[in-house]
Amino acid sequence: MAHINENFLSLKQSYLFSEVAKRVSAFSERHPEKKIIRMGIGDVTLPLVDCVIDSMHQAVEDMAKKETFHGYGPEQGYDFLRTAIQEYYQQEMGVSLNLDEIFISDGAKSDVGNITDLFSAENTVLIPDPVYPVYVDTNQMLGTKIVYLQADENNGFCPMPPEQGADLIYLCSPNNPTGAAYTRQQLKEWVDYANRYGAIILFDAAYEAFVSEQGLPRSIFEIEGAKTCAIEFCSLSKTAGFTGTRCGYTVVPKALTAKSEQEKEILLNQLWLRRQTTKFNGVSYIVQRGAAAVFTQQGKRQTRENISYYRENARMIGAALTEKGIPYFGGINSPYIWMKCPNGMDSWEFFDFLLENAAVVGTPGAGFGNNGEGFFRLTAFSDHESTAEAMERMKKIL
Ligand code: MLT
Repeated sequence: MAHINENFLSLKQSYLFSEVAKRVSAFSERHPEKKIIRMGIGDVTLPLVDCVIDSMHQAVEDMAKKETFHGYGPEQGYDFLRTAIQEYYQQEMGVSLNLDEIFISDGAKSDVGNITDLFSAENTVLIPDPVYPVYVDTNQMLGTKIVYLQADENNGFCPMPPEQGADLIYLCSPNNPTGAAYTRQQLKEWVDYANRYGAIILFDAAYEAFVSEQGLPRSIFEIEGAKTCAIEFCSLSKTAGFTGTRCGYTVVPKALTAKSEQEKEILLNQLWLRRQTTKFNGVSYIVQRGAAAVFTQQGKRQTRENISYYRENARMIGAALTEKGIPYFGGINSPYIWMKCPNGMDSWEFFDFLLENAAVVGTPGAGFGNNGEGFFRLTAFSDHESTAEAMERMKKIL
């Protein structure tokens, strides 16, 4: 009989957002009359912006004609999209990238999960707690040694390097779930630490477009020395509403190496290319055409308008919590509000309380790690009307 990968048995029974969805659908079956307001998973509600739609329509036309039809594309993405991303890094962040350092994917979640293919299970991995659950789950699947970095109110949810060394480090800034963002100086400390120990930082920049405070870095490659110690994952899901369309990108610098068992330095860019060409057949031409439109002047303007719309929701949520005297974090450089559960409730208790009494869905902090206990995450991705109504409902019961 076949044997399973035993590591799967150490995982939590279900993925956080599947558990939330299960409880919400049970509630909805019991109360079909209630209008549920969903502020749980960070899923966008505004449609794709006009120029993305136009570009995708044009791409559909291309697919309809023999001369412009596209079959399999390059596994690492079409040059028209990689060039657009290369220019975006240069113009917006002052970061120079080679085209072959950019890999197009179907979203940051896949790449963040798949990157473990490149690394040995013998590695010691630093993962903040609380954190986006994919980092922990995929490392448990591989069987690495996880060391948690304590993120809490004392360090503003931005843990700094420990005394001892490590091999891999997951950082997410602006952070999911807490909304905290590392400063340039803090990221420099991480980069210096990683270069000192030969560690690799796996930097999740999925929320970079939400940075609103001047001077905060939006890419780890804005930090000197990062190209010898970091891989960056980014996504158009939150930047441009691609949660259902699926497109992201990963930057693996050509200067980045890790050691083989024979102590040989291996280029991670080559390893990732090898992995992708074997296991991935690229993102569809139509989606990549839509994604390229995001990086045009018009695309940047239109997507910025959507982000401002979500920021207004974050402001409304913050104002309601302040009115009720409930402490919260985030919401400034991130679409997430990380609030304290009121009246000493634990986070799943508060989840049930809010669902039962206000039909509002959020995400229990404990689902992001032990340090998330006692916290609750609300997203700013609803429409204004639903956000305002959710806040009215919450204010009545808190
Ligand atoms: C979240 O709600 O944490 C994210 O939307 C999940 C994801 O991006 O996969």
